[in-house]
Amino acid sequence: MADPYPICWLNGSYLPLAQAQVSPLDRGFLFADGAYEVVPVHRGRPFRMRPHLERFDRSLAELRIRNPLSLAQWSEVTHELVRAAQAPELLVYLQVTRGTEHGRNHLFPPASVEPTAFAFVSPYPQPAASVLANGLAAVTLDDSRWARCDIKSVALLANVLLRQEAQDRGGAEALLTRDGRVTEGSSSTIFIVRAGTLITPPNDYSILPGTTRDAVLELAAGVLPVEIRWFTVEEMRGADEIWIASAGRGVLPVTKLDGQPVGSGAPGPAWQAMHARLQQHLDTIASRPALEAC
Ligand code: PDD
Repeated sequence: MADPYPICWLNGSYLPLAQAQVSPLDRGFLFADGAYEVVPVHRGRPFRMRPHLERFDRSLAELRIRNPLSLAQWSEVTHELVRAAQAPELLVYLQVTRGTEHGRNHLFPPASVEPTAFAFVSPYPQPAASVLANGLAAVTLDDSRWARCDIKSVALLANVLLRQEAQDRGGAEALLTRDGRVTEGSSSTIFIVRAGTLITPPNDYSILPGTTRDAVLELAAGVLPVEIRWFTVEEMRGADEIWIASAGRGVLPVTKLDGQPVGSGAPGPAWQAMHARLQQHLDTIASRPALEAC
């Protein structure tokens, strides 16, 4: 299928995606040695771009990979790809790997090896009307990922396997548990609502510090009591509502867990209110001068 937005950015150049080439000796290909970001674009504006770019910078620093671009340069690349795509709802993907050298060495390459940097844009996968009306099914699975889930590493094999296993069991997301606690989804952060209180786990090494999570917490401030704390699978099963949140999906209600209804079995009132508040927030951002959007 033809790519709807064929322009990408690779190592400093804008070029057709079909012409972009990376060596098979790139450490991203051989070792999954790199980090990435997914920046959502809503109403034509990158949403929370600075937190995304700061998290990108932090992931690379934790992996000891030099970020070849400043935040301002990444912002320019992102805006340029959005301009070229000419569509209001998009996902911009950014990736940096430790670069390409001849051979295959576990040790870092010499400092003269340049990181490989890549960015492309794709359509935003809008949730189906049936998902907004009825919610999603999810399944619980043991969190089989590594011990540094705070880093947005391109090494996503465990996430891929977990998401596929969820799908095979009829779920649209895997909700992960480690040491008796719920951590997050395979590609989303998690919230539960119990007796009117919004609860989400604290950010630590076992969780990606989610940008959408932060947006939800800001929008909940003063409206909904919030607790940042761990919860168990049992507590999650007894919740009135479960939500997942990510740049690629927004905030969506989970209405079925391991085949059993969550709360009333329909999207709950707290999610309805949060979803409406988020849409209103995006409208407000879109009505501001462009420079303030980031
Ligand atoms: N994933 N946790 C994991 C493991 C994730 O992969 C993601 C996002 C999140 C949510 O983070 P944010 O709200 O900043 O998107 C949490 C992206 C969208 C992806 O891999 O496509």
